[in-house]
Amino acid sequence: MWGHRMSIKVAINGYGTIGKRVADAVDAQDDMEVVGVTKTGPSFGCDLAVKKGFPLYCTFDDADRIARFAEQGYECSGSLSDLLAIADVVVDCSPGKMGADNLAKYQNAGVKYMFQGGEKHALTGLSYTSSANHTENLNAEGTRVVSCNTTGLSRTLVPLYEHCGSLKVECTMIRRAADPGDSNKGPINAIKPVLKVPSHHGPDVMTVKPEIEINSLAVAVPTTIMHVHAIIADLPEGHGLTTESILEMWTDTPRVIIMHGSDNRITTTAEVMEMARDIGRKWGDLHEIFVWEDGVKLVGDRLYYFQAIHQESDVIPENVDCIRALMGTEPDWQTSVAKTDAAISKYYNC
Ligand SMILES: NC(=O)c1ccc[n+]([C@@H]2O[C@H](COP(=O)([O-])OP(=O)(O)OC[C@H]3O[C@@H](n4cnc5c(N)ncnc54)[C@H](OP(=O)(O)O)[C@@H]3O)[C@@H](O)[C@H]2O)c1
Repeated sequence: MWGHRMSIKVAINGYGTIGKRVADAVDAQDDMEVVGVTKTGPSFGCDLAVKKGFPLYCTFDDADRIARFAEQGYECSGSLSDLLAIADVVVDCSPGKMGADNLAKYQNAGVKYMFQGGEKHALTGLSYTSSANHTENLNAEGTRVVSCNTTGLSRTLVPLYEHCGSLKVECTMIRRAADPGDSNKGPINAIKPVLKVPSHHGPDVMTVKPEIEINSLAVAVPTTIMHVHAIIADLPEGHGLTTESILEMWTDTPRVIIMHGSDNRITTTAEVMEMARDIGRKWGDLHEIFVWEDGVKLVGDRLYYFQAIHQESDVIPENVDCIRALMGTEPDWQTSVAKTDAAISKYYNC
């Protein structure tokens, strides 16, 4: 067990959309520090690491690749192996499906590891969201922080499940086609159904909360800013809930925002993201799941609702909580969530 005064040394392998955000969120905490971030080679993304003062390492152990950083004017502190040697835990933020190769490197270095949702559960045999299974992840060697969609589903479904004791869910994931910084993905003028049915998104919730019976369909649509989930949940008899009490439950749930769409003129994801930019976090991020109050309705035992997910950022605070779980420094998920979120708010002065 780690003493609370020690600073956990965190390596970030892959400094892209998720990696740069995790690095900032770790930097905001007082119980952990970024000891280095990796890039495959010199590019504009290195400038952010330099500006933040994060030591820059090369993703590979190859001397030629390391030398290229200096040729472009960047100081490279060494290779991935050098970085792993000084870290307690590595947060793998490489593009999906690179996990197997990277896992061997982490295990050889004897460092704890966390993957992201682009990897399958089978890689680690353990997955993580803060509200569902923090305790199961305590002191584990490695885990996977589930995807943005699974994180979003978990945020609103886990408290419902905890109240009801059972839950059957069908949902449709209306997915953004690409992140704003991507130029090689689509569709740009089509709606693309995921023809593998059910899609993996719903069942992935069962990697963190197997008791929730859930299936999903997915379609990709030409937008870059958010995903929307259309959810139908069947509650068991005798649940004792009303539309109003469900809204109260989510109002009291960390990292969920409930707002009335019509009253606030916030009826699409465009306005949700505009509101997020007003909050003032870097990149206009919204770590919280957004639920439209007027889109929630319990009819008999069947609950209908919509929620919006900022795909680039909802998993970021979860990564911070997950570091504490793996290191065994904070056994209570709610305490970790409160600490993470307070530090992030202070960091961005909002
Ligand atoms: N984007 C999202 O909306 C989102 C949401 C939740 C989860 N995720 C998951 O998070 C992970 C990272 O996704 P991302 O969107 O951040 O990807 P990304 O923006 O493409 O960033 C990945 C970074 O890793 C670097 N990289 C390439 N090969 C690498 C390797 N072998 N080892 C280490 N780093 C390598 C990339 O290249 P350079 O170093 O050359 O820049 C890039 O900076 C994936 O598993 C993804 O599924 C993504």
